[in-house]
Amino acid sequence: MMGARLLGSGSALPKQVVTNAELAARIDTTDEWIVERTGIRQRYIAGDDETTSTLAVDAARAAIADAGIEASSIDLIVVATATPDNTFPATATKVQDALGCNGGVAFDVAAVCSGFLYALATTDSLLRTGMGKRALVIGAETFSRILDWDDRTTCVLFGDGAGAVVLEAPGENDQPGTEGPGIIASKLHADGAQHDLLYVDGGPSTTQTVGHLRMKGREVFRHAVVNLSSVLGEVLEQSGFTADDIDWIVPHQANARILDATARKLGIAPEKVIVTVDQHANTSAASVPLAFDVARRDGRIKSGDLVMFEAMGGGFTWGATLMRI
Ligand code: UT7
Repeated sequence: MMGARLLGSGSALPKQVVTNAELAARIDTTDEWIVERTGIRQRYIAGDDETTSTLAVDAARAAIADAGIEASSIDLIVVATATPDNTFPATATKVQDALGCNGGVAFDVAAVCSGFLYALATTDSLLRTGMGKRALVIGAETFSRILDWDDRTTCVLFGDGAGAVVLEAPGENDQPGTEGPGIIASKLHADGAQHDLLYVDGGPSTTQTVGHLRMKGREVFRHAVVNLSSVLGEVLEQSGFTADDIDWIVPHQANARILDATARKLGIAPEKVIVTVDQHANTSAASVPLAFDVARRDGRIKSGDLVMFEAMGGGFTWGATLMRI
């Protein structure tokens, strides 16, 4: 049976753009190094009046408008974030209140850069089992707030933003098979033994501070290509499709070289890969829904297309979802 289907998407970015040249004026880096090693040309950085929840709400409103539904019909909200407004309550509850659809289910998912994939698969399961009828799945981050701006090996890589999708529970009258719209297959993984390669060195129960992001970039890169090509293969096998059947791949936007290497390993043409890392940098859980919304709005991704979402991040966590739009 097909899973939850897409009703709409939306995204939001902070007002302020920061180019590589602007960073190079402040820290020991160059535009050439950043572009050559990552493909990043600029990132958006949240201002004082912008938080993870304000970006999430803006993206959610755009997705609700795109879906053409009333916000009051949303009964399940899942926000993937590693940079919540507060340690608790969940940012999802703030979004719920701002949208005026209180009373349903609302919670956050912490799987860092794979957060949207974890949220998507979890929401699909909840909708399939009747826990809700209409859901908002949001990836929203203000990673600029947990960066060590003196560490050039990490601070040039990340940005802020949010992306959202509205999903509807599968119905009894849905078309059988995999030709109709909906989630076809998802696969999630985690390997807690890799914790020290990508983590934040603070938290309420350890340092009572928020902490800063720490990453051994080269090792993360190596694991990313291996894990992502492996999970994409698993989802294809589970669904009975091949790499040739995929119309679009919407990957987590960490590094243009990871996108290239993963697509090459699977034999997917580079033209089928949605790339926004040059504009947004790595926005963690927001990157997949942001890239998806950009490609839907510019007309590349259309109804009926077979789309593969994938991401890998701290934990390590990684996952992929195949969906007919
Ligand atoms: O979202 C979660 C998943 N995250 C990722 O997937 C990130 C994965 N990793 C990467 O994208 C890449 O490994 C990086 C972009 C982080 C680094 O690229 P790299 O090609 O692996 O570079 P490197 O870490 O091996 O560093 C090469 C050199 C070093 O100098 P030495 O030791 O060779 O003299 C660094 O000090 O580049 C230097 N370097 C910089 N130079 C200018 C590191 N950062 C910078 C910088 N500007 N910002």
